[in-house]
Amino acid sequence: MHTASLIFDDLPSQDNAQIRRGRKTVHEVYSSAVAELAGLFMTQRAVEEQTTLTQYDAETVLELIAYSTKITQEMCKGQIIDLESKGKRLTLAELNQLCFYKTGIGFEASIMMPAILAKRDEEERTILRKFAYHAGIAFQVKDDLLDIEGDTAILGKQAGIDKQNNSATFVAILGIEGAKKEMWNHYCEAFESLQKLSVDTAFFEQFLHYIINRKR
Ligand code: IPE
Ligand code: MG
Ligand code: MG
Ligand code: MG
Repeated sequence: MHTASLIFDDLPSQDNAQIRRGRKTVHEVYSSAVAELAGLFMTQRAVEEQTTLTQYDAETVLELIAYSTKITQEMCKGQIIDLESKGKRLTLAELNQLCFYKTGIGFEASIMMPAILAKRDEEERTILRKFAYHAGIAFQVKDDLLDIEGDTAILGKQAGIDKQNNSATFVAILGIEGAKKEMWNHYCEAFESLQKLSVDTAFFEQFLHYIINRKR
């Protein structure tokens, strides 16, 4: 689902990107038609994979599929908000909403899907959702910063493309310092929510550290 979202995101009709993961994008190597069909194929394949989880009870797998397909729908909404926000001066609340739907939601899925399979209780799920919300937005703010401060060779994708597309990013609206401040705010909120979990949070802490300090 994640890779499919990137194939769609790179299309000429969306971000029009030529490089991804250090290689030419799918539509550059083949065509937009192949990229669209590959993306659709992969989202369907992701659902198929979930139907093979026979070691879990059917009700749990249905809950997983209901959740993950909903997330895919929400991500489509996020991408539409992103495309419609080009050139607009969004408020901070609108920026957060945009980033949650286009990126944060994928983070939420990667954390909540295991939680569904492991039948964690609602109290724990609420904490995990809060962590994912803030970690996901922090990730996108860092993504926006790397577009300005990063290097194409290290990023494996085109630096500067947000400006080229006139995208409504945290950096475009708040400036570099303002974006960094917001990233740290979300980092702190995510870190704080971890303190309420009763399970070992070392991995989540490392993950947060990586989100903020990564070069690519
Ligand atoms: C993409 O956001 C979000 C999704 C793919 C759903 P960006 O457009 O900022 O991502 P990059 O910078 O191309 O990786
Ligand atoms: Mg995009
Ligand atoms: Mg993009
Ligand atoms: Mg980006």
